[in-house]
Amino acid sequence: MKFVITTTQSQPEPGPGLLEFATATGFEFIPRRRRGLAELAREQGARGVIVWEPGGPVLYIDGEKLFFHPGMAKSRIAAYRKKGQEDLLIKACQLQPGWSFLDCTLGMGADAIVASYFSQTGQITGLESEAAAAAVIGWGMKMYSSRMGWLNQAVNRIEVVNSDHRDYLPQLPARSYDIVYFDPMFEQPLLRSQPLNPLRKLANSQPLDPASVEQACRAARRRVVMKTQAAGDELERLGFRRVPGSRHNPIIYGVIDI
Ligand SMILES: C[S@@+](CC[C@H](N)C(=O)[O-])C[C@H]1O[C@@H](n2cnc3c(N)ncnc32)[C@H](O)[C@@H]1O
Repeated sequence: MKFVITTTQSQPEPGPGLLEFATATGFEFIPRRRRGLAELAREQGARGVIVWEPGGPVLYIDGEKLFFHPGMAKSRIAAYRKKGQEDLLIKACQLQPGWSFLDCTLGMGADAIVASYFSQTGQITGLESEAAAAAVIGWGMKMYSSRMGWLNQAVNRIEVVNSDHRDYLPQLPARSYDIVYFDPMFEQPLLRSQPLNPLRKLANSQPLDPASVEQACRAARRRVVMKTQAAGDELERLGFRRVPGSRHNPIIYGVIDI
């Protein structure tokens, strides 16, 4: 899929941030010249256009916008900070301060941010196979700044890598990360999961394969964790043990202890 970068109509000059973004991601910068985004995409034969906006890059694709926002992670962490509510991902991982966490399916980065908050100092890496998603979410995370220091800290320290975990995992030394985590796209999307809608336009929707789970078990020091739909049998197919959750929750976690 081809993507190009441009400016907003109001700030047509590319600043140093945009040029750095273009060099790092490899997407071509196309001057805006007052064109609409649909016209620009058509002219360039591009699937979508990434606009360099003041808060970070925004991908426009089929009339939808994909950009980084920590909304889902923020409410999960806030539920813990205000009410002591246990987060199900953290429970499944048994994540402790200082532990490292490899998220093999970064997406919008909500799970990686929650893990980063609870880990405090451990290395947090997020892999995303789709270059445009990795660029928009990775740079959005890097540039993110709010009045909440605890949130900035959790977001800013995540290292995002544009790589397919099927290529990345076999190259890791054994026992590299405390936790290795997978959250592949669900076959039947949950209607409730609105924040993932723009991501669906370009996400990698291949199911998790047993070879990747085997590589994850080699690369993990403590646990391999997977999130999936409670109704399916993905956990059994891939050899994960179910973590008991609420009977009403359509999502479930599975673990493999190392
Ligand atoms: C369901 S989303 C993950 C949502 C994420 N846990 C969150 O909290 O926002 C799955 C993401 O993983 C990516 N993905 C799927 N297969 C992948 C692979 N083999 N390697 C790297 N990323 C992959 C998809 O492109 C998509 O962005």
